Amino acid sequence: MSELALLGGPKTIDDAHNLRSSWAQKGLEKALCEYTGARYARCVSSGTAALVSSLFAAGCGPGDEVLTVAYTWVATVGAVLRVNAVPVFADIDPRTFTMDVEDAKRKITPQTKAILPVDFYGHPAAIPELMALAEQHGIVVIEDACQASTAEVRGVKVGNLAHMTAFSWSGKPIYSSAGGGAYLTNNRRLFERGLLAGQHPTVIAGLATDPEVLQHASMGGTGDNMRAVGLDAMAQLLDADVRTDARIRNCDYLTEKLSEIPGITPPFVRPGVKHAYHYYNCLWDPKVHGVSRDRFCQALNAEGVYAVAYVKDANYRFAPESKPVQAGGPIHLRTIFQERNLYGRGCPFLCPHVKNPPVYRRGDLPVSEEMTEREFAFSQPHLSPPCDLRDMQLVVDAIEKVVDHIDELKEA
Ligand SMILES: Cc1ncc(COP(=O)(O)O)c(C=O)c1O
Repeated sequence: MSELALLGGPKTIDDAHNLRSSWAQKGLEKALCEYTGARYARCVSSGTAALVSSLFAAGCGPGDEVLTVAYTWVATVGAVLRVNAVPVFADIDPRTFTMDVEDAKRKITPQTKAILPVDFYGHPAAIPELMALAEQHGIVVIEDACQASTAEVRGVKVGNLAHMTAFSWSGKPIYSSAGGGAYLTNNRRLFERGLLAGQHPTVIAGLATDPEVLQHASMGGTGDNMRAVGLDAMAQLLDADVRTDARIRNCDYLTEKLSEIPGITPPFVRPGVKHAYHYYNCLWDPKVHGVSRDRFCQALNAEGVYAVAYVKDANYRFAPESKPVQAGGPIHLRTIFQERNLYGRGCPFLCPHVKNPPVYRRGDLPVSEEMTEREFAFSQPHLSPPCDLRDMQLVVDAIEKVVDHIDELKEA
């Protein structure tokens, strides 16, 4: 047989590759399906909207518990409150900063309707294990992959792992200046039910086939508006893997260098996982140098390295006018959870639908609480191209300089 493709030989550029270059003509939803392998994708107005749509699709509502984490961005938990369900928090694995599967097992109750793990900082949660757990209980896993849209587990793209997955384009691995997001699923029923959270009546009528969904089309489901923005995320999708791979090279370099510095533990990556490195997070051990993480970060920031205490401070340079918020710890310690009275008369925590009203106390989530005081992270813009290994070396130089002069920080 000839070597030439024309005469039956192998193609130089395979079909999967060619699919990529034609994404631009297909529209973002089709491209997302081809990129992730998921069967259905719906673009919505934000990652938060993708989470709300997914929770709505899973039927989460008053009195239902959604098992999630307190070590996350506010939107994960805010989405649960938005559908009037009760967040129940599992602790995190101290190595990956994602949901601790053993603690999740302990916290499932007959009221648990969905498990909502977060791919925090871009490291996928233990989705295969959580899917097995969900199957035992007949419930749904909704993966908050807002920070991890280019990550993988054992060669399978995030978006094609859980029952439902939420993506965000707001400053994330796949980015759009307008924000936006998408939910993805392989399940037609969940895809259609998700439309009821905030799509236009005519769109629901055009896309849905399920009579139960169609009967609510006239009101646009709940009457909310989550219509897509940020369709220019397509441009980013085309080279998302190239940028993620470059970021991984930069982060691997940091890990190699920082693992030699006493008091600093670089991020752990589970075997088989492709980390999207939305953030690169390290642990600081205050006992090694006798200096707190906050003082260490102040010194790093003064050197020109922007290191954040993400969960403690919600310290995200979102807009020029933004200021760090002293959030005081993981989500379960924030005011809404201490007061348990979001909508008045105790809803959604203490209303008559809730069988076991939750109590959120300091000490409930020891790992999450400790990590809040110890971790520091560098964000994606400082890790992605055009930043290269020379830039990473500057970060290492700054950290070494601070550690070499650590005694001066003690005296101050
Ligand atoms: C973990 C996580 N979930 C959800 C969201 C919400 O995404 P969006 O800002 O697009 O609503 C974010 C955004 O930062 C996030 O980091």
